[in-house]
Amino acid sequence: MSRPTQVRIPRTRRYLMCRPTYFEVTYSINPWMDPAKPVDVELAIAQWEQLRALHQELGHQVELIDPLPGLPDMVYAANGATVVDGKVLGARFRNAERAAEGPAYLEWFRARGFTDHEPVHVNEGEGDFLLTETCVLAGRGFRSVGEGHAEAQEFFGRPVVGLELVDPRFYHLDTALTVLDGDEIMYYPDAFSPGSRAVLRRLFPDAVLVSEADAEVFGLNAVSDGLHVVLPEAATGVMARLRERGFQPIGLDLSELLKGGGSVKCCTLEIRDRA
Ligand code: ARG
Repeated sequence: MSRPTQVRIPRTRRYLMCRPTYFEVTYSINPWMDPAKPVDVELAIAQWEQLRALHQELGHQVELIDPLPGLPDMVYAANGATVVDGKVLGARFRNAERAAEGPAYLEWFRARGFTDHEPVHVNEGEGDFLLTETCVLAGRGFRSVGEGHAEAQEFFGRPVVGLELVDPRFYHLDTALTVLDGDEIMYYPDAFSPGSRAVLRRLFPDAVLVSEADAEVFGLNAVSDGLHVVLPEAATGVMARLRERGFQPIGLDLSELLKGGGSVKCCTLEIRDRA
């Protein structure tokens, strides 16, 4: 198959990140978390610093929220909120261990004058909400719920397409699907129910389909600026596919943060200001 290599144009982004100062794995709310496995906080911080530096080298603005003791998962900033058109939908976590993160992130945005909505139903921010050109793709099945999707649609005034996740290893949408640019996406089909797979095929017939091996190393937990795609370095298959499409994949080692069940995208919340 010969597809003319597209010219890719990066767009400058604004991100929010949280240093893993208090990172640890003391509870288990996804299959990747094993409290019996030791975590090296210094290494986690060093790996996270590399991600932050890379975002900045690529020309993006990185804002920081102060980590709070007792909230080890706060490093996964993507879960803290969803920001579209300068409007902030707060997060409401499924698990009690993470409940206090929602208000902490909302407070950060309030202090900076953003318009917000305090959620009634469970939604775990950009862990389950991913924005494409035409819609918001929304995961459910493990964390966020359908009522939370409806709440997002009403607040953002954008169509929300609900997708059923069925494999506990891929418990958040951002572990199973990446938005690359506009309406171009990549995903691991078996992470979704048959009906949701059919929806994805219908809406995104040109999507890059990713293998289980690449999904398992969190190859879909990636952040794209329209040209550069930052992702875990072990996802070599994804990198090859992205190059064919004219993207520039950049691999990173975030092995310590993987012990909490997250990687590049989980650590990066996009702040989308009003256009
Ligand atoms: N330990 C966290 C949890 O299970 C990891 C969250 C990963 N974040 C993400 N955006 N997928 O909730």
